[in-house]
Amino acid sequence: MRIGILGSGLMGGKLGTIFARAGHEVVFSYARSSQKLKHLAREASGTARPGTPREAAEQADALLLAVHWSRIDDVLDQAGDLSGKVILTCSLPMNADNSGLIVAHTSSGAEALAKKVAQAHVVSAFNTVPSEVLFGVFYASRRKTTRPSLVYCGDDGGAKKLTADLIKDVGFDPVDCGSLRIARYTEPFGLLMGEIAYGGKAGPELAYRFERFAEA
Ligand SMILES: NC(=O)c1ccc[n+]([C@@H]2O[C@H](COP(=O)([O-])OP(=O)(O)OC[C@H]3O[C@@H](n4cnc5c(N)ncnc54)[C@H](OP(=O)(O)O)[C@@H]3O)[C@@H](O)[C@H]2O)c1
Repeated sequence: MRIGILGSGLMGGKLGTIFARAGHEVVFSYARSSQKLKHLAREASGTARPGTPREAAEQADALLLAVHWSRIDDVLDQAGDLSGKVILTCSLPMNADNSGLIVAHTSSGAEALAKKVAQAHVVSAFNTVPSEVLFGVFYASRRKTTRPSLVYCGDDGGAKKLTADLIKDVGFDPVDCGSLRIARYTEPFGLLMGEIAYGGKAGPELAYRFERFAEA
């Protein structure tokens, strides 16, 4: 798959690297230094390369949107026409000091994004785990340990199938939560995960797993 990374920071840098190591063709874009994008592409190995947001979007089968909420309009502007594209967003609609959601309850960041790019297929994914756990999950999945869950939601069946495949490539067990509207619940859950990951003493390398039990 050809994957364009829009925002090559903690999440985009790591997920892009994992996608490349899983065999995908990755373009890293949108950082404040082109040196950083070159470095990420070199370290990711495979066919990864640096590019502009427009280059990342042009040939992409999927785009990962991983920027602070305040940068969404700028990066979308730079990416150009995204009609028909699959956009996986891990971006949470946080306020400037990252202390709270500025879109919640009656909408979500993912739904607000879908309104901005009405011709694209938005899927919300990867926003409920801290970046620090991603490499650990990826390498553990090769040892065939039990996989952690990862919730995702969206309105387009094809885009969701593609997202589920990428979630599996990273080493998670994808949990389909339904339509994009459910991002109203998954985004606050991402904040809960942040509290547990960064608020506790055990460190941020944290994932979660849903289990089902038969009724007694
Ligand atoms: N970090 C997590 O564990 C985590 C978990 C769940 C969800 N999220 C969400 O995922 C999204 C990305 O988070 P993150 O932690 O990956 O953020 P981040 O590390 O700050 O990455 C954002 C990227 O945007 C780039 N950027 C910022 N301003 C720019 C500008 N003016 N011009 C060009 N590039 C610019 C940054 O460049 P530089 O590389 O030069 O800084 C960086 O590459 C956020 O919406 C966050 O809420 C994060």
